[in-house]
Amino acid sequence: MSIDPKPNRQPEIGAFFQRDRSWHPPAFTPGYKTSVLRSPQKALLSLDNTISEITGPVFGHDMLGELDNDLIHNFAKPGESAIGERIIVYGRVLDERGKGVPGALLEFWQANAGGRYRHKKEGYIAALDPNFGGCGRTITDEDGSYAFRSIKPGPYPWPNGVNDWRPAHIHFSVFGHGFAQRLITQMYFEGDPLIWLCPIVRTIPDRAAVETLIAALDMQATIPMDARAYKFDIVLRGRRSSVFENRLEGN
Ligand SMILES: [Fe+2]
Repeated sequence: MSIDPKPNRQPEIGAFFQRDRSWHPPAFTPGYKTSVLRSPQKALLSLDNTISEITGPVFGHDMLGELDNDLIHNFAKPGESAIGERIIVYGRVLDERGKGVPGALLEFWQANAGGRYRHKKEGYIAALDPNFGGCGRTITDEDGSYAFRSIKPGPYPWPNGVNDWRPAHIHFSVFGHGFAQRLITQMYFEGDPLIWLCPIVRTIPDRAAVETLIAALDMQATIPMDARAYKFDIVLRGRRSSVFENRLEGN
């Protein structure tokens, strides 16, 4: 990974807020079977942030390829494109105070329109699309905004219960301004009935928290005769040292 000599952000300094563990799903959720063996067996300890969490690598736009934010074309043969419903996913990366996070690295990966991943351990019978790889990346602008093009992924079955299906989703990895702002999450699509049946989604205790993971169809951002748009904002942890008002922004 190259380090951009002219970073497109001025990093803040200072420790981050502690994670709100009542908002995030608990580690031990037996309905999601693999959580049983991989969840901690002992009580958690809370520690202050260290310098290795407060800091992190700086990402610049010059590390991106031309088609990194276009999953319709970034694996396709010249002149061809991926099969599926053409979509734009866009939004902003914000911190807990509602402030845009510029220079955040977003990486995303997803199944193809039939619900099949391009991965050697993938066993689902749906067909591969020779023109779809399923991953991409981008970096947020000065106000924390981002956008990429893709096709809408299909739902797929997975071996958890007898007949569990994942709703259509896109995986996101977000790297903000420090290792404490690393976030791995998933985005779902408005109106998908499988969201509320999914054992992974159901590990999230608060319905309002689930709703923050559902991208809304935004007809205003749609490109007519081309692609529909879905809006998805992502919230990372904020810096304690940057709170200068007597209330938290964005609440
Ligand atoms: Fe997935």
